[in-house]
Amino acid sequence: MLPVNKAMAGRESYFWHKLHSLSGIVPVGFYMVQHLTLNSFALAGPKAYNGVINFFEGMPKHFLIVLKYGVVWLPLLFHAIYGLFIASRMEAYVSPAAKKYRENGYYLWQRWSGIFAFVFLCYHMASTSIANARFGPDTTVYYENWASYLSGTGYVFLIVYVLGILACAYHLAYGIWMFCIRWGITISEESQQRMARFSKAAFFFLTLLGWLALVGFFYSPLAPKDTVASTSPPVETPQSSVPGTTEL
Ligand code: HEM
Ligand code: HEM
Repeated sequence: MLPVNKAMAGRESYFWHKLHSLSGIVPVGFYMVQHLTLNSFALAGPKAYNGVINFFEGMPKHFLIVLKYGVVWLPLLFHAIYGLFIASRMEAYVSPAAKKYRENGYYLWQRWSGIFAFVFLCYHMASTSIANARFGPDTTVYYENWASYLSGTGYVFLIVYVLGILACAYHLAYGIWMFCIRWGITISEESQQRMARFSKAAFFFLTLLGWLALVGFFYSPLAPKDTVASTSPPVETPQSSVPGTTEL
């Protein structure tokens, strides 16, 4: 059972809470799934990954701006800020008696993973999206930049990404389960258990997808044979530099 009580529902606006819940799935959740899928193109090598980057870079600017800020940034910003507001009150919602239930542990982790996701995404978006807008893609977001970035500085950034993906995957996967209860999609105990199994599978799958994308920047088993050994820059040449090291 979802550990939400009436007192909790009464403390926050019903409308904003529903909107927060919806924004976690549409568009933010969908964005994350497609984003990790496209990032996993790194497994097919520099040409495939840079092709994705070039696809977005080549979009008409006005369309890209609406897509980026209207469909991704704005809903994420709302979800993050309202989410931090909810999380800041979390202790008040959990009665000591309820803490012994396993679901309550999952629920608390969902909030902690949201806080971690917030820190991770501030850093991630500043070092990719904002850095790209300011310095251009050549020194920020191409395959070669990622490859040197993730393997540099004693693998610190790789660890940050491994944990960031884990937190986001958990947050979304458990969020799907909560969403279905909140919106009356899963009402019976049985349907909630079925959804719990789906959420566990989603957690596993999303983590794997994100981690495989990271692997792709070290080793690209799906790259066409003629490009596997190639370490030279692709057609639209990014210079070898590191996203995180550009001054913002
Ligand atoms: C394998 C790990 C990841 C890689 C390689 C990666 C790569 C990128 C790149 C290259 C950009 C910049 C796009 C641009 O040029 O503007 C970006 C932006 C972004 N990423 Fe990631 N990302 C990863 C994981 C994640 C995760 C787990 C999330 C969680 C939802 C996420 C959310 C975002 C968001 C919200 C943006 C800003 C969107 C935009 O301005 O276009 N990323 N990412
Ligand atoms: C950026 C930082 C984020 C923060 C601070 C945050 C915070 C939260 C919090 C506190 C909840 C629980 C709401 C409740 O108790 O009712 C929540 C739910 C949720 N979040 Fe996030 N979140 C963040 C990012 C994300 C991202 C990147 C995604 C998707 C990839 C996401 C998807 C969801 C979903 C699906 C739910 C469940 C909605 C529901 O309760 O019905 N969140 N978030």
